[in-house]
Order: sequence, then C-alpha cells, then structure tokens
Amino acid sequence: MREVEVLTDLNNPCAFVPTMGALHAGHQSLIRRARELADEVAVSVFVNPLQFENKDDLAKYPTTPKHDSQLAKEAGATILWRPSYEIIYPGELKKLSSGEIGRSFEGVHRLGHFDGVLTVVNRLFELCRPKYAVFGEKDFQQLFLIKEMAARIHPEIQIIAVPTIRDTSGLALSSRNVRLSDQGLKSAEVISKILRVASSESSLTSARQALKQIEKHSSFTLDYAEIIDEESFQVADESSLKTRVIIAGWIEGVRLIDNMAMQNSLVRA
Ligand code: PAF
Repeated sequence: MREVEVLTDLNNPCAFVPTMGALHAGHQSLIRRARELADEVAVSVFVNPLQFENKDDLAKYPTTPKHDSQLAKEAGATILWRPSYEIIYPGELKKLSSGEIGRSFEGVHRLGHFDGVLTVVNRLFELCRPKYAVFGEKDFQQLFLIKEMAARIHPEIQIIAVPTIRDTSGLALSSRNVRLSDQGLKSAEVISKILRVASSESSLTSARQALKQIEKHSSFTLDYAEIIDEESFQVADESSLKTRVIIAGWIEGVRLIDNMAMQNSLVRA
C-alpha cells in the first residue's frame, strides 16, 4: 500500500473510500467491498472542518494515523491518501448546497453539516475520479445526498452502499463510540433494540408506536425517530414503497445515529 499526500498514477478502474480516519471494522468492510470492485482501492483520510458545525466536536475528533494505515492495508487498500487542507481547498471555496433535504433530520441539529459533506466529497471526486465510490448505510441521509449530488455532477461515478457493521450488542460501529463509558455503551444498546422492533412492524402506526418506547430511556436524549421514504427522504406515508427507520440522539454528550430498513411491506390502510 502506497501512502501519499498527492494522488498520482492511479490505476483505472479505481474504487474510492473517503474517510475521516479513526478507522474501524465498519470502514474495513467498505474497503473490502471496494476491493471486490477494483484492484486499485484508494482510501482518503481527511478531517473536513467544513462539516463540523460544532468546533468542540472537531477538536475531539480522534486521529489515529498508524492504526489507520494498518487497518486500511489489512482490508486491501492499495493507496492511503492523506491530502492537506490546501490540496482540498485551494483558493476560494466552491461550496455546494444540500438543499431542503440537507436541512431536515440531521440537518436540523447540524446546521450546514451536509453542505460541508457534499463540498468535500465533490472535491475528493474531482481529484480522485474513481469508477466506484463506497459509502456506509450507517449515515443514510449522507448516502442519499451523495447519491443525488453524484448523479448531478459526477454521473460517471457509481455510488456503492454497504450495510452497517454492528458490534455483538447490536450497536452500529462509529468512530464516536470510543467516547462512551462502559455504562454509555450499555445504554446505547437501546438504539438498535428499538430499531429492530420498529422495523419488524408492518404498519407505519405500529412502527411509530414502537419508536415512542425510546422516550422512556432516560440515558438517551432523543433528537428524532422517524420512518422515511427511501426514495425521497421525506416522512413515509402509506404510498411509500421502500421505507427505513432512522433515529438520532445523545448519550453522555455523544451524538449517535442509526437506521434500519423496514422488513415488511407496509399494510396499506
Ligand atoms: O462519512 C464520513 O466519514 C465523511 O462524512 C466523509 C464522507 C468522508 C466526508 O468527509
């Protein structure tokens, strides 16, 4: 595996996995999927200040360069790309807007976050020009917005989605989990438990009722829990064909998000 600051001499086709470092088994599953698609797999590590609306969150973001090299190599990356700020943002910023969807759900609580994500991913795509770009389903709203942006600006890039990796308790893997105490990790189990129950319901009413149970858990401060239509990222209704439960909230000051596809087709009213 080559480690570079400037991307040169990429073999085509290339599969690209953008990250902000602090790699874990979830990232490794993206890299492994990328390796199934192409022999050249570029993994970027760039902590993008533009997507942190909370500067404290940016300051606390873990950086683990040695560990990242090891995990990327082990999972099959051929290039680890660590661009500098100047490479990503030379001169004036060409900021992308994530529109109305970018201001809903996560966007309500993280103003400007998705504009920052789209801006950096667009720039990374311009520099890397991959055939495939691989993202996790864990950040489902991010995935939705990146798919839309890529279809508009980079139609030649195929966006590949990879299912969320969970630990044995069901907790979705995230670089933020390291900030939780043992007690916090235990409390966080409620998120996947409630998702599992809600996603196995067969009507929107019963799924929403199941989601309400999370309000009883005092260690979890809920931001939102909703069923969305996967095609539009709007609140699902009886006409929605593919639906997903999404949830976000706080434990011990750490923001956690997760989602699960509804398992059954909805019973129409
Ligand atoms: O999901 C992430 O790690 C980041 O949002 C991404 C896609 C690498 C953009 O900075």
